Amino acid sequence: METREISKAVIARLPRYYRYLGELMESGVDRISSNELSRRMNVTASQIRQDLNNFGGFGQQGYGYNIKYLYSEIAKILGIDRQHNLIIIGSGNLGQALANYANFEKRGFLIKGMFDINPRLIGLVVRGIEIRGVEDLETFIKENEVQMAALTIPKTKAPEIADRLVNAGIKGIWNFAHVDLQVPDDVVVENVHLSESLMRLSYRVCNIQEEKKKKRS
Ligand code: NAI
Repeated sequence: METREISKAVIARLPRYYRYLGELMESGVDRISSNELSRRMNVTASQIRQDLNNFGGFGQQGYGYNIKYLYSEIAKILGIDRQHNLIIIGSGNLGQALANYANFEKRGFLIKGMFDINPRLIGLVVRGIEIRGVEDLETFIKENEVQMAALTIPKTKAPEIADRLVNAGIKGIWNFAHVDLQVPDDVVVENVHLSESLMRLSYRVCNIQEEKKKKRS
């Protein structure tokens, strides 16, 4: 496969392609044209061609895209063709909700452990995963070859825990705490802020109302 610098915007769209292709495969479809994929995904066909051309195309004139092949190539690009061991730090509402979502495993993300400081939570088992005290963090990470950690703790505690994670060898932090983390260059932080997504929804809802008003007047 041809490798070259891929823009963040393209990478951000790949999981959506992956999801659609997975659904097509499940419904027994073998190949699809960029026009048909465009219709289903509500993205222009030229956008699809441009995006997929970043990786050397995968499509053939008059044949379209071989879904299984494209699906597995996108998985390789996203690095989800292999298993990633993950831990959750903060086993409250959000941490437990993540642990209860079984579908992450289907994507290759295996939740190996959960951690907390609350003695009432330590020892509990969520979907087969035991909640441990944070004092075991470093040993657990090394013994279980953990590369990624979800941070679902209060923002005041997140920087300190992030430092410990980095020192223990964690390479990716899935950060739900509302704080920007400082990490070395070889560590990646993916921030997830549901409230930001909600604010974007609010903006769009309000704008639609405004547009309607303008049209009426
Ligand atoms: P929660 O209070 O139910 O859970 C937080 C857990 O973290 C508690 O069990 C607590 O004992 C534990 N904890 C505190 N300090 C710790 C430490 N140093 N090490 C390990 N565990 C520690 O709160 P909830 O609702 O689960 O939210 C967790 C965090 O996620 C909060 O910071 C909240 O603001 C944030 N959040 C972010 C969202 C997002 O979209 N980014 C959405 C919802 C919550």
